[in-house]
Amino acid sequence: MAQHIGIITSGGDCPGLNASIRAIGKGGQDAYGMHVIGFLNGFRGLVQDRSMELDDRTLSGILTYGGTILGTSRDKPNRMAIGDKTRDMTDAIVDTYHRHHLDALVCIGGAGTQKNALLLKNAGLNVVTLPKTIDNDVTMTDTCIGFDTAVSIATEAVDRLHSTATSHNRIIVVEVMGHRAGWLALEAGTAGGADVILIPEIPYRVERVAQAIRDRTRKGKRFSIVVAAEGAMSLRDATTVEKLAIKKRKAESKRVRQSASDQLRAFHEAHVGHTIQLTKQLEGLTGQESRLTILGHLQRGGTPSAADRVLATWLGTRCVRTLTEEQYGVMLAVQGREIRPVPLEEVSGKKKFVSPDHPLVQSARLVSTCFGD
Ligand code: F6P
Repeated sequence: MAQHIGIITSGGDCPGLNASIRAIGKGGQDAYGMHVIGFLNGFRGLVQDRSMELDDRTLSGILTYGGTILGTSRDKPNRMAIGDKTRDMTDAIVDTYHRHHLDALVCIGGAGTQKNALLLKNAGLNVVTLPKTIDNDVTMTDTCIGFDTAVSIATEAVDRLHSTATSHNRIIVVEVMGHRAGWLALEAGTAGGADVILIPEIPYRVERVAQAIRDRTRKGKRFSIVVAAEGAMSLRDATTVEKLAIKKRKAESKRVRQSASDQLRAFHEAHVGHTIQLTKQLEGLTGQESRLTILGHLQRGGTPSAADRVLATWLGTRCVRTLTEEQYGVMLAVQGREIRPVPLEEVSGKKKFVSPDHPLVQSARLVSTCFGD
């Protein structure tokens, strides 16, 4: 049975990370006498060998704290900025693992972390991962730590913005996070009763959105709330991205692939804040005063919801069981009412997107939500 365990949190922070660290730490120590330590700031802490004991003292009282007591980063083991160079630091991580006589490393993170964990598995380490991200885009799992809280925060924002929208007869566009996936916008938009929900998986035509708003005005509804995912795109932009993605996929030389890749990156960088333009376009097309609220990192902050605390505790304690069974190279996925270990090979490099005919999309359409298509 695994006795010496290391934990890292990696990728963007979110509510519920501390609850999962607590569950692994307390569950491992109290029930099985494991020795549990945490490495600081994601994979970088393993390279620098910076760790802390996760004992009764450090784990006490953290269930309700947002963020992560371990700190986090978006560093990758095989491409880490060291001084002014980018280096493969996998060997340094392997050395740290052995120096601490670890039997297993638990990585709590999103899609990128799953990929990095597989690299470490392939380098010979015993790895178990838990899915966390407010984007909910990790494949094979129904949900991820942090998603429920982010949905609640974004929903509350939509609720509050209704007051100003109705009082001033305005269009209010609310930009929510989610990276390239629309889960957060779809759920917060549905929960908040948004009139328009724009998600990356359903490219929109701004004229259609304006038409839906004008239709509402004709019916006497003098305000509209548009929940737009940060990754939502007009049909034209989506076509550009698709063409570049095809160019990259079919590239026969490294030079052409690199150029497509650079163009894609430049496109996505320029797309940040696209809702500013969208808001102006809607004002122009409808003649109705419009305002934009970008929720940003508010969605990742503060106290985890009850559901996230329960999920993190469930996943964390299930992780302890997985460690006692010495079942490695897996991510613990929530599937229905069960948690199942799935091989990292099946998770790595993939993402879970909203299918355009997802039941929740259909249900939102039935209550007259416009998706701009
Ligand atoms: O992955 C979580 C997330 O909050 C995304 O929704 C967002 O696109 C990204 O992280 C923002 O990253 P950062 O905090 O590094 O700016």
